[in-house]
Amino acid sequence: IVRTIADVRAAVNEYRAAAGAGATVGLVPTMGYLHEGHASLMRRSASENGLTVLSVFVNPLQFGPNEDFDRYPRDEERDRAVAAEAGADVLFMPSVGEMYPRKPLTSVLVSEVTSRLCGASRPGHFDGVGTVVSKLFNIVGPDRAYFGMKDAQQVAVVTRMAEDLNVPVEIVPCPIVRDPDGLAMSSRNVYLTAEEREQALVLSRTLAQVPGWLADDAGLTSDLLKQRMEQLVRRMPLADIEYAEVLTYPDLLPPGEAPLREAAAKERLLVALAVRFGRTRLIDNILLTP
Ligand code: PAJ
Repeated sequence: IVRTIADVRAAVNEYRAAAGAGATVGLVPTMGYLHEGHASLMRRSASENGLTVLSVFVNPLQFGPNEDFDRYPRDEERDRAVAAEAGADVLFMPSVGEMYPRKPLTSVLVSEVTSRLCGASRPGHFDGVGTVVSKLFNIVGPDRAYFGMKDAQQVAVVTRMAEDLNVPVEIVPCPIVRDPDGLAMSSRNVYLTAEEREQALVLSRTLAQVPGWLADDAGLTSDLLKQRMEQLVRRMPLADIEYAEVLTYPDLLPPGEAPLREAAAKERLLVALAVRFGRTRLIDNILLTP
């Protein structure tokens, strides 16, 4: 466990010096309160790299003024146990003061792919993500970095940022890990009441219907699909829809007015939902691949 930038750099340098030319470093950036989704990224990294660095840092820059930065769940003891079990070698757990000793005057801003979905409903969020992920890349210098498709737009943003800025890192997208009943795992699921938790299943259940709808209905357009999803989600009295979207992936552009089957035959489509239950905001998605 290291808490300073100097110490995590020293740990990576020591490994690289010992491992020589074949050294590979994997980075798994997280905000902690680790669950099986995070563990799957660590296991993947541990299987592909000689050293796996897990970062746990609740990044204030990516939270809006009325969001949950202050109450974001934290449990260092548990995180240490999950990380060790999943094969992380180094846990980088910096303080806010270590990461931001002064107010940063520089930010990493990715345009266009951030204009819709969570980028539209959480202004500034992806500037905070782009900035902290760039800092982590510069601090750790990983060969590979592992991100979950739970946050598909984040994967698109980070991949484009690394490409645009020539960061020598391979971004590895990893599949969404779900609870047995289908709910996508999230640190924020602990906020849900039992009733909200039950109704939250509507996200994964709605998304699971989409491939069937597309197969059965040659005339299904993007607008009709969004309407169908909204209808299903609205059946849950506690659900407050933030967005129900279908966009091309990874550019995140509208697929056009033509029946979706045509677009879906040509390129990947991301079907994504964001729904609030009380004060808890949940997201989920599926990627349709030709
Ligand atoms: P956090 O929400 O802690 O997620 C860390 C990583 O775990 C992200 O790549 C996320 O997509 C992945 N993840 C979360 N739930 C998952 C699930 N159910 N299945 C698979 N992967 C899952 O995302 C962030 O933190 C932050 O924005 C961060 C990238 C660390 C920058 O601060």
